[in-house]
Amino acid sequence: MSEKHNSAGDVKTTGHVWDDDLEDFTNQPPRWWMLGLTASALWVVVYWTMYPGIPVALAGTHFKGLGLPGLSLHLPGTDPKDDGKWSAIKELAQDQAVLDEVRGPYEAKLKTMTPAAILADAQLSEYVARSGKVLFADNCAACHGQNGVGTRQTGAKFAQREQGLMAPILLDDDWLYGGTIDTIHETISGGRQGMMVAHKDTLSVQQIDDVAKYVKAMSEEGGKEKADADPAVAAGMKVFAESDCTACHGADAKGMAAMGSANLTDKVWRFDGSLEGIKQTITYGVNSGDPSSRVAIMPNFVAAGKLSPVEIKKLAVYVFKFGGGKVDAPAAPAVAEGPAAAPAATN
Ligand code: HEC
Ligand code: HEC
Repeated sequence: MSEKHNSAGDVKTTGHVWDDDLEDFTNQPPRWWMLGLTASALWVVVYWTMYPGIPVALAGTHFKGLGLPGLSLHLPGTDPKDDGKWSAIKELAQDQAVLDEVRGPYEAKLKTMTPAAILADAQLSEYVARSGKVLFADNCAACHGQNGVGTRQTGAKFAQREQGLMAPILLDDDWLYGGTIDTIHETISGGRQGMMVAHKDTLSVQQIDDVAKYVKAMSEEGGKEKADADPAVAAGMKVFAESDCTACHGADAKGMAAMGSANLTDKVWRFDGSLEGIKQTITYGVNSGDPSSRVAIMPNFVAAGKLSPVEIKKLAVYVFKFGGGKVDAPAAPAVAEGPAAAPAATN
């Protein structure tokens, strides 16, 4: 390669000339740049030896790296020989260990405390509500809606205020199974499955029609008292009193928290509250086994092994804190045993 100088100055050229006067400069990159390039090429070698990466085709694995000074974390299920070696999982575990150190004291307390005690502790319940939000989004929101607002059936003609399509709204103070922190905790631990028998074989179409009209009347302005005095629904009132309805919904029709039977005297409908909808519920029941039955199953998360006891406590506090939770009644007088004395009117 001959050294030539171009007319513009003394910059060296490669010596090649095209089209008579077109020449290539041989400008060297600056020294600092060349040093940087060399250093990074060397760094690649250092990096490769420290970190895992180079595949070892014959062994069907990869070179695990020589490891990093200061990293000696042992992960269960790994070879102790690899303790000092870096992996993404180990980095995560180390970060988590830092978090656990902060959470540790809280989590330890939660293990032994009752949900009610957690709720009473302002700092703990604040902590719990935060992790509860994540647990709720992961496990519950699919049925109960984000933050318990319910999942809505778009385009449905619900005659009354809409309830959740899949599951009850948890934001309100209307509870099937009771809204104290303990009943909520019990619901989440064991799951729930309200059962109402189908009446298509025990009541005539006329009787179902009558009783449905009576039920609808009870939910309207004036409530049960007005419906009872209304001659237009007297036939239905008779069916209600004489058939099996009161056994589950109570003589006052306000439902029994012990069995999750709905309060029939309010405007909150778990299922379709139109006359046709009510007839459907009465005819085919709820979780009755009839193919047309309404389905209402709150899964048992403990049996499914999906939630730990602490996680369930967190969720109970979180759900209670939606605002609809009921504070336990102060020292109630001794209550007789049996479902008839179950805390009524909580629906
Ligand atoms: C597969 C859908 C589904 C999932 C998932 C689900 N639930 Fe439910 N949940 C229901 C249904 C349905 C009911 C009503 C049961 C009934 O009517 O008998 C219910 C009832 C409840 C109740 C009682 C409401 C009342 O009025 O007494 C609470 C509290 C509750 N769920 C909390 C939760 C929490 C917390 C989670 C997440 C861990 C969860 N649910 C996950 C379907 C679900
Ligand atoms: C074996 C107990 C049982 C009997 C008997 C029973 N119910 Fe029910 N009923 C329930 C339960 C439990 C629910 C709530 C289901 C749920 O939400 O999971 C319910 C729900 C309802 C609903 C729906 C309420 C809503 O909010 O959508 C209506 C309406 C109703 N019952 C009417 C009646 C009438 C009328 C009778 C008598 C002909 C009757 N039930 C007999 C247990 C019973």
